[in-house]
Amino acid sequence: MEAYSNHTSLATTLRQRRQRLTKLIDFPVILWSGRSIARNFAANPYPFRASSHFLYFAGLPLENAAIRLQGTSLELFMDEAAANSKLWHGETPTREEMAQKIGADAVFNLSELQSHSDGAATVAVQDVTTYWQQTQILNRPVSPADGPTGIDLDLAKAIAAVRLCHDAGALLELRKAAAVTIEAHQAGMRASQTRGLGTQHPSEALVRSVMEGVIIAHNLSCAYGSIVTVHGQVLHNHHYQHPLQAGDLLLADVGAETEMGWAADITRTWPVSGKFSPTQRDLYEIVLAAHDACIAKVRPGIEYLDIHLLAATVIAQGLVDLGILRGKASDLVEMDAHAIFFPHGVGHLLGLDVHDMEDLGDLASYQKGRVRSLRFGLGFLRLHRPLQTGMLVTIEPGFYQVPAILHEPKLRSKYQDVVNWERLNQFADVRGIRIEDDVLVTQTGNEVLTAALPTKATVIEQFVNNH
Ligand code: GLY
Ligand code: MN
Repeated sequence: MEAYSNHTSLATTLRQRRQRLTKLIDFPVILWSGRSIARNFAANPYPFRASSHFLYFAGLPLENAAIRLQGTSLELFMDEAAANSKLWHGETPTREEMAQKIGADAVFNLSELQSHSDGAATVAVQDVTTYWQQTQILNRPVSPADGPTGIDLDLAKAIAAVRLCHDAGALLELRKAAAVTIEAHQAGMRASQTRGLGTQHPSEALVRSVMEGVIIAHNLSCAYGSIVTVHGQVLHNHHYQHPLQAGDLLLADVGAETEMGWAADITRTWPVSGKFSPTQRDLYEIVLAAHDACIAKVRPGIEYLDIHLLAATVIAQGLVDLGILRGKASDLVEMDAHAIFFPHGVGHLLGLDVHDMEDLGDLASYQKGRVRSLRFGLGFLRLHRPLQTGMLVTIEPGFYQVPAILHEPKLRSKYQDVVNWERLNQFADVRGIRIEDDVLVTQTGNEVLTAALPTKATVIEQFVNNH
């Protein structure tokens, strides 16, 4: 459970996080870790994942625990393991050892939490049993995390401000998640080759197993449900049954999460036969041009919306050049025509959550006073802030042929004249392409934490061909 180079630095990192929080609020805070939920009976639970807000300030994924923060003090509330725990779960560190590791000033039983709860704010956790406990111990309703009120809202705003820009301890973990994820994608590319295999084609499931196998072999877990699909037009496709057929593009959106919960999020799209067709290559180059142009713009002070609009413009221009769209790129973006093929936002915050702090709704990712646009081309923008040094964002433009968009009568009629539908038919071998990297905003510009994984078409082909 070593998140940082040694115990002192974990405790130091956590103290610095409390110092940053306490500058923004003047009331006590209780954060619960939550607990695993039963799959089909209590002794067969889903894997435990601690609440990210707890992890940020407690540093360790302790199950069924709470911390109380006041000023710079940290108190841990956690019961000793049950008497028969050693039989089923073996020896585990004592709570005193945990408390020492995280630099807690005191440790208490959970039953003592109520008497320390006066005036405390919290963030609602996802599991209902702990959520119910939150309301019981605080003796008041706790609003859901995505709609906090009162002091819980003040706390959510303060936590969002503190978590928005990553410290050195977080970056160590984020780099580790990125490195393992790169390895997973390389292994996935190498496991996909269909050429020369006769009828023995690998399946999406096989490639997924190879990619997740790398993550598991590093004793990490997946940060989200892997997407490994030849139907990349289904944006969050979690089915893996298709065999890979020569001519398919495989879209893999797979990311590792460290034991302390820090995530990576990478997407690559590759031809399973090891060679892009000319039409696939044409569209791939457009998405890559958007990806590269957006990353080049990432620096402190730039509006993330402008990066999204840049992706939209590069894609629109590329599609005009290919004869798929008609008109001027800026006009096409103005009328949201890019969103026919690029319907999602260009990316999101990344940290302890793959969409960092999305449990708080848009509170963290939208600048105060900004709300979601109702426009077709902007509604799925997940981040709407000027970028700051220390923020980690994804850049993930894409091109998709989504039947639910292309055959939707109102959209079809609205964009009847700007799409050359006959020309589009010539690109039927492209269902979905996305290229996604994790980009850290630095004082002078940016650093792509996932840059070691190739994006260039020829290099991707070489990987698939095992060169
Ligand atoms: N990795 C999935 C997503 O960004 O939505
Ligand atoms: Mn993403």
